[in-house]
Amino acid sequence: METAEIARRFLGFFEKNGHTVVPSASLIAEDPTLLLVPAGMVPFKPYFLGERTPPHSTVASVQKCIRTIDIEEVGKTSRHATFFQMLGNFSFGDYFKERAIPLAWELITTPVDQGGFGIDPEKLWVTVYLDDDEAEAIWRDKVGVRPERIQRLGKEENYWDMGVPGPCGPCSEIFYDRGPAYGAEGGPAADEDRYVEIWNLVFMQYERGEGSGKDYPILGELPKRNIDTGMGLERLAAVMQGVDNIYETDIIGRVLHRAADLTGTRYGENEEQDVMLRVVADHVRSAVMLVGDGVKPGNEKAGYVLRRILRRSIRNLRLLSGGDTAFLHELTEVSIDAMKDIYPELLDKAETIHGVIDTEEKNFADTLRAGTTLFGRVAERTRAAGGTVFSGADAFQLHDTYGFPIDLTLEMAAEQGLSVDEKAFRELMQRQKDTAKADAKAKKLGNADISLYGRLLEGAGATDFLGYTDAESESQIKGMVVDGASVPVARAGDKVEIILDRTPFYAESGGQLADTGTLTVDGRGVVDVEDVQKPLPGLFVHRGTVRSGEVVLDDTAHATIDTGRRHAIERSHSATHLLHAALRNSLGPSAGQAGSENRPGHLRFDFTADHALGDDRLTEVEEEVNTVLAGDIPVQSQERGLDEALRMGALAMFGEKYGDRVRVVEMSDYSIELCGGTHVPSTARLGIVKLLGESSIGSGVRRVEAAVGVDAFRRLSRESALVGRLSEQLKAPREELPERIDSMLSRLRAAEKEIEKLRASQVLQAAGPLAEGARRHGDTLVVASPAPEGASGDDLRKLVMDVRGRLGEDGPVVVAMTAVPKDRPVVVIAVNKAAQKAGIKAGELVGVAARALGGGGGGRPDIAQGGGSDPGKVDEALRAVEERVARG
Ligand code: SER
Repeated sequence: METAEIARRFLGFFEKNGHTVVPSASLIAEDPTLLLVPAGMVPFKPYFLGERTPPHSTVASVQKCIRTIDIEEVGKTSRHATFFQMLGNFSFGDYFKERAIPLAWELITTPVDQGGFGIDPEKLWVTVYLDDDEAEAIWRDKVGVRPERIQRLGKEENYWDMGVPGPCGPCSEIFYDRGPAYGAEGGPAADEDRYVEIWNLVFMQYERGEGSGKDYPILGELPKRNIDTGMGLERLAAVMQGVDNIYETDIIGRVLHRAADLTGTRYGENEEQDVMLRVVADHVRSAVMLVGDGVKPGNEKAGYVLRRILRRSIRNLRLLSGGDTAFLHELTEVSIDAMKDIYPELLDKAETIHGVIDTEEKNFADTLRAGTTLFGRVAERTRAAGGTVFSGADAFQLHDTYGFPIDLTLEMAAEQGLSVDEKAFRELMQRQKDTAKADAKAKKLGNADISLYGRLLEGAGATDFLGYTDAESESQIKGMVVDGASVPVARAGDKVEIILDRTPFYAESGGQLADTGTLTVDGRGVVDVEDVQKPLPGLFVHRGTVRSGEVVLDDTAHATIDTGRRHAIERSHSATHLLHAALRNSLGPSAGQAGSENRPGHLRFDFTADHALGDDRLTEVEEEVNTVLAGDIPVQSQERGLDEALRMGALAMFGEKYGDRVRVVEMSDYSIELCGGTHVPSTARLGIVKLLGESSIGSGVRRVEAAVGVDAFRRLSRESALVGRLSEQLKAPREELPERIDSMLSRLRAAEKEIEKLRASQVLQAAGPLAEGARRHGDTLVVASPAPEGASGDDLRKLVMDVRGRLGEDGPVVVAMTAVPKDRPVVVIAVNKAAQKAGIKAGELVGVAARALGGGGGGRPDIAQGGGSDPGKVDEALRAVEERVARG
């Protein structure tokens, strides 16, 4: 069963059992105690702790996760990955063990043709926490698991927490027995490699405090008893696909095999190489997903995680290929292609992802070059002084300044007959780590900015928001930040963040973009406000630039928002509510809001749906929105208790954090939503809403975009003018345009085919002269030449085969030719039987050519193909092949 299908079945099963399916949150954790999301439950932490009221009490998700704590284990075991996806079902105070356990068992043991995963119960074992008699009884009496298949394990294995203060609880895990070939009998307690954990059911009921490892105090019970389950999608895929490890599953396996092809290695021949290939396959995918979520390589936090992963991939690829060819571009492409079914948004982001990864690969190549020069100098100095040991300080400098991994230094030193003082190196590393730790502690775990905002909030109190009614206010400057530090004055040109006691500026939230405008201190200075954010609840931070003069703490500023922009944003926001209601009317209540953005003249609305809407549905929704808005319904906002609002049927956005008092925005009874945003007074203000189309942005999430008001009118008017022009150009009435274009396209395609045929035959005519021009090296006839201009990859292969055929089998023949279709050089090499007998292999020769072209390739011994990135190097590549043949 394909990985994507496993995910679909999982969500479908829990949806059928009353859960709301929610999309994966970004890999970048919103939680300030974490850098990246390491588990499926992270986005729901506030619901477990009772800090927020969840809009749904049971949900299911497939969450993207990153864990690098076991990075050294990746590739060595069958199951460690830096990126993985966690299937999870969650209950926030709804059901507990008595339902979570049977649900899990039902899904994994129900036969495949009845919608389950069809795993043989005889292959399953379960564990429960030491004193959890209740869970054991459910497994034994309710589910029917044989008592000898239930084991009790301690805190290390069967107690789960996030590694930081927060929710925690005992858990029960389900294991799959891979069979006697993988280790000793005796269940999960005996052997972790033979019995792989596939599903962890956490009974989240306590809150833990600070501590290290499993040594922490339990602060008390959580307000409710909850369920958090996590099943590694890749591990389950390995089981369901009958492969040995997660790296060989359908998705990761593709990168692994491509990496083997490119580096000229073979997976399964040599364990050391296999580990490297698995590392590459895992890491490339992690890098793609991290960059996809907006992480950029850097020297700290998430940026460092990404950099480390990329550098490890490059290093392993170099070790595998024995050269310094750049392979990441191609592997990135394979990885995006393999993941696009589950995350279609990767296709939109492909260009950015390639850009970031290509640049990092190039920078690291420069780093390695610079480091190699330093290495050479130190090695020479050491030898000149009669020594044989490369000092720990030099190895440390290489590591620290040039990012040289120590194993690279060790290897290069060994090649020069030197050893490295590794002990001294490790001591220096430790010293650096200790200093960094102390620094981080001083900076409160690197959360300097959040703590700064915390202090500002404490000092100034929560900002009073006046923007529901006012566009201007007299406000006092209560705090200012320039370059990450609190300052008493900001001067012309400074980028500044300003805290006011009260403000008419709306801070970006709930999809509504922030207001822009000005803060004017009479006789002193003016600040242009470009953005407003709330880094902490209640704290409005006005970000902008001091346009002139200066502003000083405690000054009274005249705050004015750009009302034209605000009104345009409000039109989009109100239109979003109408669109949400119309979509639900059309698709049913499962069309839940998954995100939105309201900007001037334009809206974006994401919602859950498992298939495309189709043009007819879209037109119907658009018509409903426009009909309703023309009815000029008043838009009313009112504060109410959360319970009352939910009773009224107000729609809540999942993942939003609601307090006990909420704002409810009503458009009669057509649309009722919890919403903190600002809106038009009545719907006719929207003028017109034009849907611009619909697309998929992730598993089960669709996106609709729309133009609103004058922007919608302008778009329609532009389109009408465009159709008018087409009608003139094609000399056809408007309604006949589609047919006219169809017929033109088919004629064009026929003509192109004809041209293509002619061109190919012209290219092939070159075969005779090329064969005649063959050069002799010893017994071997060699043709090494670029193909005629304009040859495609396909032409190239045909031409090479034709030339080889013309040169016969009297002696060894090698034909190597290049072409540059689409600006990327391609080389094809064919050798005849006599050449193969003489030990000449096309695959090897392609390796020689591709290296010169800055790429890779491979193929069969008789014909092989490769490519690269530098079209300027084709002559050099052909020369290299000819020289290799000449050398014999
Ligand atoms: N939080 C648990 C885990 O990550 C179950 O989801 O294993």
